[in-house]
Amino acid sequence: MEGDEKEALELGKLVTFVPNKKLPIYNWLYFKEGFSRDFVFMMLEKFNIKQGNLVLDPFCGCGTTLLACKEKGIDSIGFDVLPIAVFASRVKTRDYDIEKLKLHAKQLLKAKFKRLPIPKELLKFFSIYTLEDAIFFKNEIMKIEDLSTREFFLLALINASIKCSYIYKDGGSLKVRKKEIAPLRDIFRRQIYRMFKDLKSFEKMPCEIIVDYGDARRLNIEDSCIDAIITSPPYLNKIEYTKVYAIEQELFLKEEMKKGISSIRSFIGQRVKPEIKLLEDAEKAINNEMKEKIEKLPQAIAYANDIYLAIKEMYRVAKENAKISIVIGDGVFVEEEVVINASNLLNSIASYIGYEIKKTLVVNKRIFTTPERKKKGIIKEYILIWEKL
Ligand SMILES: C[S@@+](CC[C@H](N)C(=O)[O-])C[C@H]1O[C@@H](n2cnc3c(N)ncnc32)[C@H](O)[C@@H]1O
Repeated sequence: MEGDEKEALELGKLVTFVPNKKLPIYNWLYFKEGFSRDFVFMMLEKFNIKQGNLVLDPFCGCGTTLLACKEKGIDSIGFDVLPIAVFASRVKTRDYDIEKLKLHAKQLLKAKFKRLPIPKELLKFFSIYTLEDAIFFKNEIMKIEDLSTREFFLLALINASIKCSYIYKDGGSLKVRKKEIAPLRDIFRRQIYRMFKDLKSFEKMPCEIIVDYGDARRLNIEDSCIDAIITSPPYLNKIEYTKVYAIEQELFLKEEMKKGISSIRSFIGQRVKPEIKLLEDAEKAINNEMKEKIEKLPQAIAYANDIYLAIKEMYRVAKENAKISIVIGDGVFVEEEVVINASNLLNSIASYIGYEIKKTLVVNKRIFTTPERKKKGIIKEYILIWEKL
């Protein structure tokens, strides 16, 4: 098994969202947990994926894999359980009639302000003027009958409102940082016109894209139909997606949330019970040293079980010789001073299930310290490359 780690720190930035911040359409939603377009391009090239192939991202987040495939004219399918992720992926990968959008933009931006009731509990995160404007514009947008037009403006409003908020996303939690803020109406207008410009400059090619709600442990697709999987599952003990995007979802995506399957239990690693045990097959796949560490941490057991099911499901839907690329990071338990090596965990499961482990690249490294700042070890982020045998 080629599980030996090789350092490729020059690729570190590519597995972050940072390079996307300047790219048209990719940046319509800031998704801190995402990877970059250029990472997807690199993998498509390495795997020799061409038009006529089908790419899957079972944890599609804000849709970067799908959008990158659209630039190359490659068909793709993406699933997620988080309403804002599915919503943003859908809006970003759609084709639009720009002239029609422009007409709606004019009407929307000249609508006369009306004060509507606001959710007062959100005043911690917004000034009263921003919140009143956000509720007003949302109300105007919801009057638009055409679904794709409505969703386009709603994503623009989400983006603009977060820019005008006091919200500061720090890892898995929301913090508040008061600052001078421009009027939402101005930022919203600028956002809409920037999105028009993006639609003009984005060089897409004809292809089919499916974006839907779906649980990576049980995908609604047939056996052996996928040529490549380019994805990044949640990291162990890292991000609580529902918490990080709670404001956007609560304020703007109530309707969307009814469609979803976004109960906490739908998320990888969240079905934690004190008496939880490793699944029989997951137990067989993992070596004794890893098992000893995991079995002390119910959260790690839940994660190992879910990741096992997701990797097995990817195997089922992949064609023979399909290539898989996974971005993943180590799991850190600060209080227990334990680091779970994600490349060991995922590679052992993959090899047990029947993949050939082709490469394990360490692309980011950082020192893990206790709250008292004592150095306790190194946390790594990886690109894992597998092939279905
Ligand atoms: C690391 S992020 C993926 C980011 C993505 N690569 C991007 O660039 O936007 C992991 C994603 O997995 C999703 N997720 C968590 N549990 C899931 C499940 N059971 N099925 C599908 N998606 C899930 C989360 O909502 C999150 O969007």
